Amino acid sequence: MSMSDPNGHGSEKTTHFGAETIAFSEKPGRVRDVFEKVAARYDLMNDVMSARVHRLWKDALVDWLAPRRGARHLDLAGGTGDIAMRILRRVGGDMNMVVCDFTEGMLREGVRRAEKRGVQAPVQWVCGDAMALPFADQSFDSATIAFGIRNVADPQKALHEIFRVLKTGGRFICLEFSRVRNPLLAAAYDVYSDHVIPRMGQVVANDPDSYRYLVESIRRFPDQEKFEQMMRIAGFNRVAHRNLSAGVAALHSGWRF
Ligand SMILES: C[S@@+](CC[C@H](N)C(=O)[O-])C[C@H]1O[C@@H](n2cnc3c(N)ncnc32)[C@H](O)[C@@H]1O
Repeated sequence: MSMSDPNGHGSEKTTHFGAETIAFSEKPGRVRDVFEKVAARYDLMNDVMSARVHRLWKDALVDWLAPRRGARHLDLAGGTGDIAMRILRRVGGDMNMVVCDFTEGMLREGVRRAEKRGVQAPVQWVCGDAMALPFADQSFDSATIAFGIRNVADPQKALHEIFRVLKTGGRFICLEFSRVRNPLLAAAYDVYSDHVIPRMGQVVANDPDSYRYLVESIRRFPDQEKFEQMMRIAGFNRVAHRNLSAGVAALHSGWRF
């Protein structure tokens, strides 16, 4: 997709920001603004909006990953470190964990929470962009991204970057909202998304717009089959997915061989 420049400087790629079409270069800043705004209430809102079901989905991610003690792991778009903490708990803290996110406010909240919980394991908190990861080729044994790739301006580029930093034999798992196939459930989910989530965003976070962005970004994200295809294009092998809660979310797994 492209958009002509009114100043005659050629055309710029466009992308989606919720229901809006915006210049590609604008998206990272807009997304960062959303997460800077919600950082302090992010974890609470996840619990409220999903009735704590996101915890089960995240546990399903850790189950499927089956993290290895002593491995070097990248949790990308790791935000407040929720996934990283779950993985560390599973391996008794014996892992070289790197949390990378491009919103400083989310990382700060993560550091604060880890300190409050007395987390002893060494965690590296890195401010960096999924589309240009600040890590060497083949430097991680495993990688995860949860509810992050949907927010990245060019998800395909992020998949290529994740593949690049994984070692041969490395495993990647993505947790993301996906597509509900059952028409009755899909209709109920639409009502919840259009009417309940923005209202909760208003009441709990006093920020309905950010939560409207959330709903639109979920709708625009590729379905299970399309995302599998994107993973294969990035180079992943043995690509597979598992639906969670009838497809409200899905886990996608791939290996680098
Ligand atoms: C919905 S939160 C998910 C946080 C965490 N993974 C979780 O599941 O609780 C999405 C995160 O993606 C991050 N993000 C979005 N685009 C990014 C990008 N291009 N590079 C790095 N992080 C990004 C945001 O800053 C935000 O913290």
